[in-house]
Amino acid sequence: MKERSIRVRVPATSANLGPGFDALGIACSLYNEMTLTLTESSGLEIRARGEGAPYIPSDERNIVWKSICYLLQRAGRVDEFRGAKIYMSNRIPLSRGLGSSATAIVAGLTAANALLDKPFSKQDLLQMATDIEGHPDNVAPAIYGGFTVNTVTDGIVECFSFLPRIFMRFVVMVPDFYLSTKSARQVLPAEVPMRDAVFNISHAAMMVAALARGSEQHLENAFSDALHQHYRAALIPGMFDVFAAAKKAGAYGAALSGAGPCLIAFVPEHRRCTEAVAAAMRDAFRAHDVEARPLHLRMDTKGAHILRRRSMPANK
Ligand code: HSE
Repeated sequence: MKERSIRVRVPATSANLGPGFDALGIACSLYNEMTLTLTESSGLEIRARGEGAPYIPSDERNIVWKSICYLLQRAGRVDEFRGAKIYMSNRIPLSRGLGSSATAIVAGLTAANALLDKPFSKQDLLQMATDIEGHPDNVAPAIYGGFTVNTVTDGIVECFSFLPRIFMRFVVMVPDFYLSTKSARQVLPAEVPMRDAVFNISHAAMMVAALARGSEQHLENAFSDALHQHYRAALIPGMFDVFAAAKKAGAYGAALSGAGPCLIAFVPEHRRCTEAVAAAMRDAFRAHDVEARPLHLRMDTKGAHILRRRSMPANK
């Protein structure tokens, strides 16, 4: 019996982009990689290095393993593979709003699907990943790459992915504190006023139109939001000042990345001002006693993919 291993690379993601709460996302050029070997015998060997490694469970609680089990169950192959070796190499900061948990889920599903010779389509993986994560806006760009628009209708997820006709760089400021998605969702109200819902529908639609048609002018106000950022501002000191500083330094706009605490600025490629935007955002954070480091990223256009495939004897 030969054990097969596979290595996957999955991009970081930034969800919401301001008005597109739980609906819009982008994939970014920062990656986690993982090598998976499925074994006939039970037992887990999970090793992580890089970002957040000490906090990643190396037993059955591991989200990569849970996702693999979910897929094996769906494929009816749980009896064939009772254990795994999972080696993770992580560059995406943990619990900062860059989709690290989505990356883990997508890595587990993509790698296990490939090792089973792809019984599931990307759409199937998106549905499974959303069922596990609870919302699609990080897992969709992690799977498809680019800019993604998602809907969930009667539990069924749909995703439209495209590459914007506006070339942008992203400046992501990573503050020196963690924020769990759970706590950042707990501060949100169960119901919102109609005018706020209308505000977000119109701004999210404008963003999609501006990116699809390449209208810089229509992007300038499209990052505004009334559904989640105001409620979450108390959790991220200086958030709106940092947005204003980014815009003043040349960004189209800025937003809370996912549930935060990272803040992301969308910077026109042609203005060549990412350093100035990062410095302005860092200074604005400092004025509120928050230290933050910048990540200079671009859009990932590929989504999750297999890096290489190899076979090795089981006892090596
Ligand atoms: N749309 C989600 C939220 C993203 O804002 O809570 C969390 O990663």
